[in-house]
Amino acid sequence: MAKSIKILAIETSCDETAFALVEASGGLAKPKFKVLENLVSSQIEIHKPFGGVVPNLAKREHLKNLPILFKKLTTKYKLLNTDLLCVTVGPGLEPALWTGINFAKEIKEKTKLIGVSHLEGHLYSILLDSKFDAKKMFPGIALIVSGGHTILILMKDLTHYKILGQTRDDAVGEAFDKAARLLGLPYPGGPEIEKLSKKGKTDAIDFPRPMIHQKNYDFSFSGLKTALLYYLRDNSGQNVQYAGHTTRYKKARKEDVAASFQEAAFDVVIEKTLRAAEEFGAKSIMVSGGVSASRALADEFKKAINSDAQRGRSPDQKRRGNKKAKLLITKFPTDNAVMIAAAGYISHLRKKNRKLAANGNLGL
Ligand code: KG4
Ligand code: ZN
Repeated sequence: MAKSIKILAIETSCDETAFALVEASGGLAKPKFKVLENLVSSQIEIHKPFGGVVPNLAKREHLKNLPILFKKLTTKYKLLNTDLLCVTVGPGLEPALWTGINFAKEIKEKTKLIGVSHLEGHLYSILLDSKFDAKKMFPGIALIVSGGHTILILMKDLTHYKILGQTRDDAVGEAFDKAARLLGLPYPGGPEIEKLSKKGKTDAIDFPRPMIHQKNYDFSFSGLKTALLYYLRDNSGQNVQYAGHTTRYKKARKEDVAASFQEAAFDVVIEKTLRAAEEFGAKSIMVSGGVSASRALADEFKKAINSDAQRGRSPDQKRRGNKKAKLLITKFPTDNAVMIAAAGYISHLRKKNRKLAANGNLGL
């Protein structure tokens, strides 16, 4: 059994400057974490007027916020006494990533410093849930749904996994952000759409469910966004004159548009995840990434898992007794450094080291 170590983690891949102080213990069969500090300084208000993240502004804000957050930690703890320093090296905005890497190099002194993948951060954020029990989770299906990624992963165990599919264009979070812009809602769009959806009808508009019936595990959300664009154009509430006739167009209710759009996106994600869970006999479904902050996604997942278990998704599943896969949704969905500490600890146990250089396209 590995002894307990203290980890300091830094995350600057996008628009959150984050530090975490975490105590980690246990081996790969039973890693355990105690979160001592979780500091996140969000830049949302800075990027809001631009409707998305502006890389150079992000870099400037990280440079400003890194020393402020670090000072907070060192003031509280005097001696940080860390055994391991972890920093996100990708994927993300390279100018933003470099600020974190350079800062980590500056403060490292004699501490071991390792680079961590932001995606592994999301994936392993599940380990921070006290309900996580490595003995009961595998094989499992992991779903990462964030602003930059939509990835479905088959996990044989904690360290052996395979990407089953991913988005071919926009990520789910990105689709929400773009849809919000079309609806005149602020950035980030996911929470805005979720809020509006509560007052809307999910079946008001029949938006497409791209690739839902395709046998692969890939996704595509740019067509859904285009469908929304056309829908809004055609339902603007303005009367159109053509060849002497006036066509009266209804004005779409924003709440209904949001609810129907969200439902269409979640339907695809949930259907493919449950299909993968069934094909690979998954004992668990582990959901992470910013979009997993959505209460609506959790509710829809639960409903779908229960209904599958009741009616049996397939004869094969019926034979297996319609065992329900356990649903685990991360407690750390949007970007933070606690998840970087968790992923860093797994890398440390595996003696896996990533290059300490920003890589915007780094994979899992
Ligand atoms: O993981 P994350 O913080 O950053 C990336 O790694 O991309 O994810 C951010 C994404 C944004 O697209 C945002 O709109 C979405 O997560 N998001 C949500 C919710 N909260 C954040 N989407 C749907 N519902 C939410 N409540
Ligand atoms: Zn993220």
